[in-house]
Amino acid sequence: MTANKLATILTRAGRKKKFTHGAVNAVIQRASSLVFDSVQQQQQAIAGRTRGELFYGRRGTLTHFSLQEAMVELENGAGCALYPCGTAAITHAILSFVSSGGNILVTNSAYEPTQHFCQFILSKMNITTTWFDPLIGDGISNLIMPNTQVVFLESPSSITMEIQDIPAIVHAVRMINPDIIIMLDNTWSAGILLNALDLGVDISIQAGTKYIIGHSDAMIGTAVANKRCWDQLREQSYLMGQMVDADTAYMASRGLRTLSVRLQQHEANGLCIAHWLSNRPEIERVNHPALPSCKGHEIFKRDFSGASSLFSFLFKKRLSNIQLANYLNNFEYFSIAYSWGGFESLILAYQPEELSVIRPTIGIDFTGTLVRLHIGLESSSDLIRDLSNGFDRLTE
Ligand SMILES: Cc1ncc(COP(=O)(O)O)c(C=O)c1O
Repeated sequence: MTANKLATILTRAGRKKKFTHGAVNAVIQRASSLVFDSVQQQQQAIAGRTRGELFYGRRGTLTHFSLQEAMVELENGAGCALYPCGTAAITHAILSFVSSGGNILVTNSAYEPTQHFCQFILSKMNITTTWFDPLIGDGISNLIMPNTQVVFLESPSSITMEIQDIPAIVHAVRMINPDIIIMLDNTWSAGILLNALDLGVDISIQAGTKYIIGHSDAMIGTAVANKRCWDQLREQSYLMGQMVDADTAYMASRGLRTLSVRLQQHEANGLCIAHWLSNRPEIERVNHPALPSCKGHEIFKRDFSGASSLFSFLFKKRLSNIQLANYLNNFEYFSIAYSWGGFESLILAYQPEELSVIRPTIGIDFTGTLVRLHIGLESSSDLIRDLSNGFDRLTE
């Protein structure tokens, strides 16, 4: 889809009259009980409850249906399940497709709680996890076992930002066992810079908490599934009680309306700062997918239509903990905080030994301190001045 077309879809998707009741935006319908006028209407609701008929709050209200319809249009899926946060979307999508005795292949560079879910929850259910290198490509075929049920991707990788060859992985998996369900944590692309389902992924998952909400003030998870997975994802997530409140669903729909322009500005600011960083003498490497220094950059150019604004860079050396604290504590615009995707810039740092712990099988190939930046919507010259002052603090 072209960027222009997308911008229009983002402003229109999910705004049918049946959801808006004549207003511009969908109504906020807060409900647990939905009242039926008659037994016949109740029967109709039972029959249509999986197809957008009002039935019971946990199945969703007009506010949820509007958001779900918009997400399906954006990500080209058959249905969209909603969750209270991105982590719930990841864990419940996985739980919907694994069973005792099964196996899941997970990128070694997945978001840390995704890794912990496999280590501490799936293991209790007698489901084994096989970790793979994010750059594995079609080599994944060597890891598939007769009991493999799910392949879980995340691209770019959390923190180290490697880009995965999704088409190669999808092709290799399908050649061996087409029944395996392939899922992608697609949060970085906001679901629109990379169309996962068009590349053959079955379920595209997002922490809508990030770019969709966009203002760091609410949490939501989305999982858009293709036709073959939608019924199972919807029903199993429903049985596990997964839903989000109507106000948050409304906030997510509201976020979609400005997502295109926000992402364009995030991208421009992020690129400007990434290029500036790549010329600094203190820096070993900038892990920004749009720069050749990032692993998988060629694949990024082939598969993504643009960049968002989360990336990392490596210092040539490991900063002492005192130096690092002095560096991080004194920024004017960059706040120290988890999460990303909001209008404000954020910074986090990791010492190499901390990162080795969350790369259990592949390890890391660097010895310097890593800094992760989320570039917000401030002026890029202010952000560069802030970062420049940070480098000066290291020489004090
Ligand atoms: C890549 C990625 N996926 C998922 C999540 C989880 O999202 P949430 O915080 O909404 O649970 C995060 C949160 O930081 C993330 O970075």
